[in-house]
Amino acid sequence: MSFPEIRPRRLRQSTAVRNLVRETSLESRQLVLPMFVREGIAEAVPISSMPGVAQHSLDSLRRAAVDAAEAGVGGVMLFGVPAVRDAVGSGADDPDGILNIATAALVSEVGDALVVQTDLCLDEFTDHGHCGVLAEDGSVDNDATLERYMSMALAQARAGSHLLGLSGMMDGQVAAIRRGLDAEGFADTLLLGYAAKYASAFYGPFREAVDSQLQGDRRTYQLDPGNRREGLREALIDEAEGADIVMVKPAMGFLDVLREVRDAVHIPVWAYQVSGEYAMIEAASANGWIDRRAAVMESLLSIRRAGADAVLTYWATEAAGWLRD
Ligand code: PBG
Repeated sequence: MSFPEIRPRRLRQSTAVRNLVRETSLESRQLVLPMFVREGIAEAVPISSMPGVAQHSLDSLRRAAVDAAEAGVGGVMLFGVPAVRDAVGSGADDPDGILNIATAALVSEVGDALVVQTDLCLDEFTDHGHCGVLAEDGSVDNDATLERYMSMALAQARAGSHLLGLSGMMDGQVAAIRRGLDAEGFADTLLLGYAAKYASAFYGPFREAVDSQLQGDRRTYQLDPGNRREGLREALIDEAEGADIVMVKPAMGFLDVLREVRDAVHIPVWAYQVSGEYAMIEAASANGWIDRRAAVMESLLSIRRAGADAVLTYWATEAAGWLRD
């Protein structure tokens, strides 16, 4: 008598068999590298809470983008760190603002090889650190912010950005920006709606990366981490408003939301493996508690398995190198 009759382990017996039956793949073209460019610096400045990540100068940004392209990464997402901030984030839609200058530089340098993407949000440019402009009572004014976003969208499109990352979580932002772009002849500029962006503790290191001025929190516009249906609702709204792609963010704490969004919409779904997710794996690896490369690749594969068509990750260039080797 042979027992058991059913042996799932048969499919795991060798590397060759495992490779043949693996359900999920990870390719370098599915990785997007977030990058920070800071105004007025001549050399890159390391970010202490994100070992291996830096605030770039224009020069080091160009070099890092070339490295990403050569490694086979699919795109880069640019964040600007301006020297001066004000209440309405004037640096964001200034054609000479750091983000717009850097965008034009990258488009001319690597624009054929990479999808050059720009973060469209005011938080890096405002002196209060919120993602929008404030009303008299100090609350974030949704509709006044949309006006600013439309102006920022035009500045980024004019700088040559291929794809705008709408990360501000204002109601109606996808529809307003789409309308504004189309009216000015930018019908081909792609829009990524940060549909399910949660008010997460895992953005901590990013705040250092952009020298954030934020007092308080973003819970009146970003989603409550307890809410799954609401994330799905936001994704459906963004798709209906004309988003080309939707985002779930952060990634690893929200894989259930990611799966549901993937099953519900008919456009690409991306996930953002955020700064805190990066910092956790780096810190544990630095202590010798986990195998860094294996943990990084497992985290990326898990995000793909949950439904992400592409992943924003600070390891994009390095992971692409590993995938090539
Ligand atoms: C806001 C923005 C944030 C991140 C990306 N865009 C921070 C926030 O919402 O507070 C976080 C990214 C990360 O943590 O890696 N424009």
